[in-house]
Amino acid sequence: MSAKIQAPRGTYDVLPPGAAERAQLESTAAKILGRAGYGRIETPTFEATPLFSRTVGEATDVVQKEMYTFPDSSGDSLTLRPEGTAPVVRAYLEHGMHKEPQPVKLWYLSSFFRYERPQAGRFRQFWQIGAEAIGSADPAVDAELIVLLGELLEALGARDTKLVLATLGQSEARAAYREELKAYLRAHEDRLSPEVRDRIDLNPLRAFDAKHESTQRVMVDAPRLIDRLPQEDLDHFEEVKALLDAADLPYEVDTTLVRGLDYYTRTLFEFQSGALEAAQNTLGGGGRYDHLAEQIGGPPTPGMGWAAGVERMLMASTQPPPVAPPVELYIAYEPSQKANAFRLAADARRAGHSARLELAGRSVKGQLKQASRSGARYVAVFGDEGVQLRDREGGEDKVVAPETVMHHIRGDL
Ligand code: HAM
Repeated sequence: MSAKIQAPRGTYDVLPPGAAERAQLESTAAKILGRAGYGRIETPTFEATPLFSRTVGEATDVVQKEMYTFPDSSGDSLTLRPEGTAPVVRAYLEHGMHKEPQPVKLWYLSSFFRYERPQAGRFRQFWQIGAEAIGSADPAVDAELIVLLGELLEALGARDTKLVLATLGQSEARAAYREELKAYLRAHEDRLSPEVRDRIDLNPLRAFDAKHESTQRVMVDAPRLIDRLPQEDLDHFEEVKALLDAADLPYEVDTTLVRGLDYYTRTLFEFQSGALEAAQNTLGGGGRYDHLAEQIGGPPTPGMGWAAGVERMLMASTQPPPVAPPVELYIAYEPSQKANAFRLAADARRAGHSARLELAGRSVKGQLKQASRSGARYVAVFGDEGVQLRDREGGEDKVVAPETVMHHIRGDL
């Protein structure tokens, strides 16, 4: 026997019960986002590599360690999408959507790829529901998007959720702050974890995220970005908060919130769930990315959005799983009647009924067992003497003509 081939690590199969649960999540999201005017978009599974390296950021873990990048046969470097924002902004620019009324509001449900260490709530192929509003810097865009993710999580009955909010300001203030933070980290280098120390230049902000105790103590007194932001950024943030208050959505401001992608400016947020393990407790999050369009060769175009992990949302959800639609008709038959039974099954399905037919050569007795297992309300048994029709919700068995079976189950005979 050949060696057994299994699914790659960090991937999983969606089996029918899981698919039904996802379809339910998808329709909940479609309803909530559709009501707010978001249109569905689907971009390719792979993109030109620079789309991600320029926007997500060369220094991020995503770009440095996690991308599935490969040359195609013509030598172009392609990458399986690790996230959806850069592709959506690319599509916005490519299709001239700036000519439409702004902001253009889009949502997606797609799979993404990151070479991460697989664990509960962390996969190498995972799904996200995401929403992006491109073309307006109005704080109402930020607040609307945050409220919509809150609404989605509430509709799912996601357990123990918390909204955490921060602001990063625009890039100039951030660049100056980065320098200040680097200097502070260098001054305390001996107390930092080796990982943080090695990344002072590359990614100083990550130090706030460190689990290392002595690093955490150093970070207590580290300079905070929020104290270095210009007034207009603070005003923007104040308005986002005021609008969230107006919508009665509670939040916590955490000035040390860091996200693993470089394109963010101004608003940053996450919904976390206490029902998930701390390392993977972010159900979803996002923020503003007012310079992303320029990074990929477009004109200055503000944008804001979020993405939430399908697996994590399902893990935190208390929404009851969907009930499978009932089987209406089970068709059993003697071997001599196979073609007649087959015809009825095809006709019944064409007429919109759900019908099951024996497909494994069981005896009539075996078929009747299957019929009751299927929960079908009607059972038609094709025998040499005609069709016997049973209504499992009561009534006498009747012998009926094959062409009338459907009329009987519809109740018009
Ligand atoms: P992200 O924080 O990288 O943001 O991912 C968003 C969500 O996707 C996470 O909160 C998590 O639920 C889920 N997720 C991420 N990686 C994995 C994984 N390996 N396995 C399972 N779930 C995962 C983004 O992707 C941004 N594009 C969000 C955004 C949209 N920002 C602005 N617009």
